[in-house]
Amino acid sequence: MATHIEPGYARMTPQSEQDKAKLASGIKAVDHYLKPGMKVGLGSGTTSHWFVRALAQRVAQGFQVEGVPTSNATRELALELGVPLTDLGAMDQLDVTIDGADEIDHQGSMIKGGGACLLWEKIVAAASRKMVAVVDDKKVFERLGRFPLPIEVIPFGWQSTQRLLRELLADAGYDRDLKITTRMKNGERLLTDSGNWIFDCHLESIRDTHTLAPRFNAIPGVVENGLFVGIADEMIVGHADGSSDIVVF
Ligand code: 5RP
Repeated sequence: MATHIEPGYARMTPQSEQDKAKLASGIKAVDHYLKPGMKVGLGSGTTSHWFVRALAQRVAQGFQVEGVPTSNATRELALELGVPLTDLGAMDQLDVTIDGADEIDHQGSMIKGGGACLLWEKIVAAASRKMVAVVDDKKVFERLGRFPLPIEVIPFGWQSTQRLLRELLADAGYDRDLKITTRMKNGERLLTDSGNWIFDCHLESIRDTHTLAPRFNAIPGVVENGLFVGIADEMIVGHADGSSDIVVF
């Protein structure tokens, strides 16, 4: 049964062309990947929230799944819409995780963390048999890096952590003076759901995704980085006309 979205259901009326493309991707994820009884990782960000709304509508019609949210915001949305939740301790593995991306390349490498949820997102993806990225057609690039790369860090000793981050990036051939900004919210440093900070690294163009990704987490103080390499198995690219394409990596 194809998911049909009732206008206005759960604030389910996309306003912009990009939102329409995000919704198309979310609906396709529900229709193509979810089977009754599945345990599903629920991503974060606007695209994932369209997916959660589409899923909630199916749940309201009797479709049975259990979700594990990747952020407090997604947990709140799922609870509000009646999507049953569980946690990673209650299972061996999730069947599938559906999550968005800030950028994705043609090999499935992603920048994530625009919503500051990258740590839980990576944990949940790693606990899943399959990870499907849901994106709109403006998120697919030949090369990653125009979106600043988020790095989640412990607040303690952040100056030292940032210095080591600069040294790592300089060693990898990036400009020693490249812009690293601390993510702010309402005039204060943003706190992630785990109480950490986010450094956004303005790399502009990432040449060495595969070799760079594993290096960040070796820095004391870095909790996780927003390069997701070898994690996405498939992606759904949504378009504003309501169509979508599936790409298998
Ligand atoms: C949150 C994420 C999101 O998946 C990413 O930011 C994409 O968000 P959106 O769907 O709103 O464009 O990684 O940490």
